[in-house]
Amino acid sequence: MKKAIVVGATSGIGKGIAQILVDNDYKVGITGRRLNLLEDLKKENPDKYFLKCFDVADTKNISKYLNELTQELSGLDLIVISSGNGDLDEELDFEVEKKTIDVNVTGFTALADWSFNYFKQQKFGHLVAITSIAGLRGNRITPSYSASKAFQMIYLEGLRQKSRKLKYQINITDIRPGLVDTDMAKAEVKFWIASVNKASKQIFKAIKRKRKIVYITKRWILIAVVAKVLPNYIYERIY
Ligand SMILES: NC(=O)c1ccc[n+]([C@@H]2O[C@H](COP(=O)([O-])OP(=O)(O)OC[C@H]3O[C@@H](n4cnc5c(N)ncnc54)[C@H](OP(=O)(O)O)[C@@H]3O)[C@@H](O)[C@H]2O)c1
Repeated sequence: MKKAIVVGATSGIGKGIAQILVDNDYKVGITGRRLNLLEDLKKENPDKYFLKCFDVADTKNISKYLNELTQELSGLDLIVISSGNGDLDEELDFEVEKKTIDVNVTGFTALADWSFNYFKQQKFGHLVAITSIAGLRGNRITPSYSASKAFQMIYLEGLRQKSRKLKYQINITDIRPGLVDTDMAKAEVKFWIASVNKASKQIFKAIKRKRKIVYITKRWILIAVVAKVLPNYIYERIY
């Protein structure tokens, strides 16, 4: 039986992926800050879920929690980082920005580093992170969110290079959703919004295929292409 950890599995995309993994015969370690939601998920299949309640912004304890969880699972093949924070911040309040940076940059880096080093020592493994199409361009209403997602994308690219150099079977998958129907979907205009179920199924397919970069749902690749080529002087006016 394969073993996975999903960080940020109390709700939304992380919860959806955890459920699909369990349906596909994985043992799954689930994490988040809301203990009651972790316990509710575990009740669905008590033998296959293992839970650990922690805040990813508290980076000094991340290794301890992930080591404990991995021991309970008796190993690790796959880790999915789905934890994320992002709030609208039109007024540019530093505390709002900092909260996002603490989770999406500092916490993310601690999680990714622990994962890569664990897989390096066993010479195989698969690190998957849920970034966002928002990381392709700056955004005046959520500046730290888009910047943090750009950080995650580039960080994952660096880890992919590291893995290639080592010649180990360590796969790195960058999942870039457009809009998925969760509490995080804060855009005023919600178009092409996917259900958690649809998004999770597409993400699982990408995990099985060990894809490097994937847009969820698939049609969001069109927006990604436009976002990348749109000249600054136009982008600044329309957004
Ligand atoms: N929904 C979208 O449209 C969309 C689009 C692009 C990218 N994404 C990305 O998808 C990922 C999952 O988000 P979602 O849409 O599924 O939203 P969600 O339902 O709000 O899930 C966020 C998850 O992150 C966890 N989390 C947040 N802060 C945490 C912290 N400090 N410590 C530990 N866990 C924390 C939450 O758990 P607790 O609250 O229990 O701690 C929850 O399980 C995020 O990285 C988000 O940026 C979402």
